[in-house]
Amino acid sequence: MPSGFQQIQTDEEDDAEPREPGLTPTLALSVFTAVLGSLQFGYHIGVINAPQKVLEAEYNATWLRRWGVPPAPATLSTLWALSVAIFSVGGMAASPAVGLLADCLGRQRALIASNGLALAGGALLGLAKLGPCDVLVVLGRCLVGAYSGLASGLVPMYVGEIAPTRLRGALGTLHQLAVVLGILLAQVLGLEALLGGPGRWPLLLALGLGPAALQLLLLPFCPESPRYLLAVRRHQGRSRHTLPAALGHQRDLLLLDGHL
Ligand SMILES: *[C@@H]1O[C@H](CO)[C@@H](O)[C@H](O)[C@H]1NC(C)=O
Repeated sequence: MPSGFQQIQTDEEDDAEPREPGLTPTLALSVFTAVLGSLQFGYHIGVINAPQKVLEAEYNATWLRRWGVPPAPATLSTLWALSVAIFSVGGMAASPAVGLLADCLGRQRALIASNGLALAGGALLGLAKLGPCDVLVVLGRCLVGAYSGLASGLVPMYVGEIAPTRLRGALGTLHQLAVVLGILLAQVLGLEALLGGPGRWPLLLALGLGPAALQLLLLPFCPESPRYLLAVRRHQGRSRHTLPAALGHQRDLLLLDGHL
């Protein structure tokens, strides 16, 4: 081995800073909690494929009850296309708000707030059978789409900011992994033998509520991102006014001070 190479290695070892903590339980919990949002995002992408025939029949019956005549095939396929595509429209409409939400509320509380969309959308999808199901499914898909648009920005941001440098790459892949797992889960559950059958589509569509509820339950135990807290601190230093969002973060700020 060339001696210069050896030299560099020795130097690095001499200068080595104390090792960053690795995967602590709090970090694992926070990353798990955050990627529940990605799981839900994937689930809603995948879930709509399986029950197409069942839902079209349901739309058909709803239309017949409402107008007294069955819909033209073109109307039915337009309704169906709308139910699928409105998800992306909701996502596109909501995603520009990611930066604003993350900076005004903080990463953790922006995730909590966005869960409101997921819960409302999931409830509409689950209860669609009780009302005008075409309208309710379209509305529900729009709301879960908006949640997914927020989650696909907030989750990688939060995970990237709480992960120590050494683990940032590895943990950063979990968002994408969870999206794909969600799609897989939706495809499997959508099988005719599981939840793809005629009477079971409300349950299939509403299952996204599971990860949403679990995420909402766990998020209060996750710390706020240190990068956001530092930004708040810097802002406080510059002006006498505290960011309103920082008020709830006294505990996290004190913890951060302990580390500085
Ligand atoms: C819609 O309902 C009508 C009346 O029940 C039926 O004749 C028609 O085949 C149905 N169309 C589809 C696509 O299910």
